[in-house]
Amino acid sequence: AGPINHIIRKDEKKVTDVVDVEDLLSMIKPGGKISFCRCWKSQDWPYCDGVHKEHNKCTGDNVGALNIVRKKTS
Ligand code: FES
Repeated sequence: AGPINHIIRKDEKKVTDVVDVEDLLSMIKPGGKISFCRCWKSQDWPYCDGVHKEHNKCTGDNVGALNIVRKKTS
């Protein structure tokens, strides 16, 4: 098997990120969501831009985003 990452931050030895949960809360409106890319092909990394659909169609793969949702407050 070869690399799965062909475009994202290739100058780094390892691509890792830290996300503070409080920052996530401030980024997502109540009832909203944020989607993080897991296919390594997004042009809007680290966010999903939907390109995984074309990847899946072309390759028969089944990858998709990590969707983090925030419940509506009452
Ligand atoms: Fe990568 Fe959607 S673009 S998971």
